[in-house]
Formats: sequence, structure tokens, C-alpha cells
Amino acid sequence: MSSTIQRIGVFTSGGDAPGMNAAIRAVVRTGIFHKKEVFGITRGYEGMIEGDFVKLGARSVGNILQRGGTILKTARSDEFKTAEGRKQAYDQLRKEGIDALIAIGGDGTFTGLHKLYLEYQLPSLCIPGTIDNDIAGTDYTIGFDTATNTAVEAIDKIRDTALSHNRLFFIEVMGRNSGYIALYSGIAGGAGAIIIPESETSFDKVYELLTAGEITNKRSNLVVIAEGSKIGGANEIARKVAERTDYFDIKVTILGHLQRGGTPTYFDRVLASKLGVAAVEGLMNGKTDAMVGVRDNKIVYNLFDSVMNRPHEIDMDMLRIAKILSI
Ligand code: F6P
Repeated sequence: MSSTIQRIGVFTSGGDAPGMNAAIRAVVRTGIFHKKEVFGITRGYEGMIEGDFVKLGARSVGNILQRGGTILKTARSDEFKTAEGRKQAYDQLRKEGIDALIAIGGDGTFTGLHKLYLEYQLPSLCIPGTIDNDIAGTDYTIGFDTATNTAVEAIDKIRDTALSHNRLFFIEVMGRNSGYIALYSGIAGGAGAIIIPESETSFDKVYELLTAGEITNKRSNLVVIAEGSKIGGANEIARKVAERTDYFDIKVTILGHLQRGGTPTYFDRVLASKLGVAAVEGLMNGKTDAMVGVRDNKIVYNLFDSVMNRPHEIDMDMLRIAKILSI
């Protein structure tokens, strides 16, 4: 392993995701294990621009493995989108002697780091951390498993009351551009219909599916909708159904940001730990301008260019499975 890198900066950026702390811990301890110094950069690119750095030791990342959120805090920075902002950030990094970066975040985070790399050639790797699982080049992102479990737990609870009252619930889960949480929590929660941005569906088709239940007397039902649905969110779809029929007693639940918090599952902790180790060792082996991910349970390094702004394809057969199982 090359050892020209001496000081690694690590930060979280964009929406937080359960398991980010486990990734920070893994980066810090792997760095120290390999005799590097590791600095936490607070509030993502904002903190980088302001030079908000803190040296982290093995003990300073103790007792965070099981905690949701991010101890380094996170932000979305407009300033870093400008060349001047990035120059300021680079000057701060140089002043501190930070000679490599590891970012934990999503697509927007990668874009920023890629630009910084093109301008200043600072060795840089990203770890995919977002509940949306919307990053190409990795089977899973940190936080997706936990957020989906949270959604399933909520759906199970809603099912109890839906059944008791014979109600039709529209449940909206997160996923601005991605239907992963909706699809997986919908199948796991036994939804009668799942609406995701990736599927070519229409309101009429959904209505048809729900009212087919009238024949089988299915008054109580659950519909899981990704917030990025192209036919409207839970409120809009519920309103339209109510306009067409009074057969159902309709309620809406929007799960919102509670999906972003909470104790990470074992899966997210292990994933974050593996990716954190792989990021530090990848940098030491000369990997740069890339994202570390997992494919078929193996660590892979994807150049930013090959993953940025690309969709993480959904297995559409999952929708077929959901449909078969909802009769
Ligand atoms: O973390 C991803 C995500 O949860 C999206 O699904 C959602 O649209 C977005 O973040 C909302 O984030 P914020 O409230 O931080 O802007």
C-alpha cells in the first residue's frame, strides 16, 4: 500500500442516513490503524469552506456505531457549487495539511467532490450514504435498510388500525426520485398497491386495482407511494379516489423524516464498516475520483463519472411480484 497520504479528511454531506456514524468510525479507525491522521470536517462542504476541522482519535468515535444521524453534522452548500467556494475549501484543506478526502453522502456530494478533484487533484473517494438507495454502482447505500425497516414497522402498525376500521390508507414514504423504499416496504408490508416513480402507471390503473377489491369486498387496504410518484403524492391520489367513489373510508399517512433517523440495523452497520475500511485502503492503493460500493457482496470502486447522475435501476419484476401477492 502506498503511504504518501498522511492526513485524511472525512465528512458527511446531503441528507443524513442511519449508519453514517458507523462509516465515520470505520474510516477513522482504519486510518489510525494504518498510521494516518484523520480529521473530521463538520457540516459537509460548509465546514470545509470555513476550515471547521477536528482531529479524531480511535476513542473519539467510540459509542457512535449504534447511533443514527451523523456526529459530524451535515449540510447542503450552495457556496461549494461555485469555483470560488471550492478554492476557499481547498485552501483550508491545504492549511491543515489534509491530503485526501472521504465523503459520505449521495449524488450531490459526489458531484461536488468530483469537481474539487478535477480542479485540485486531491485524492478523493465517496461512500454512498442515503436512505433512497438511488446510487448506481452499488447494490445498497448506507441507511436504506434501516429506513425501509422503519417504514415496514409503520406500515404494520397502520395495518392494525386500517383493519379494525375497514379503512383504505395511502402511505407516503421517502424517495424523491427513487421507489426503492416504497417497493421494498410495500412488499414487506403486504401493500395492495405500490406506486413508484420508475413505473409507468396511471391514476386510472391504480383506481382500477383498488376498486377490483370492491368485488372481493376488500374495503381495508394499504397503498404505499414513493414521494416522487409521477401521478401525485398520497394526499393527491387519496383526494382523487374519494372524488370518484364513497366506497372507501380513506386516510393518509406521510411518514416523512422519521425514516431518516433511528438506530441503524445490523445490515447498515456492517455495510458502513466494510465501506469505511475499503475507502481508506482504496485511497492508500491509489484509488481516487471514485465511489466505493458493494456489488454481489464484493467491494467495488466505480469512477464518479460512471455513477453520477445515473439511475440505480430497480428490478421491475418486484412490482410484478407485489401485484401477484396483493390479490
Ligand atoms: O435522504 C433522501 C431524502 O430523504 C429524499 O427522499 C427526500 O426527498 C429528501 O431527502 C428530503 O431531504 P431534506 O428534507 O433534507 O431536504
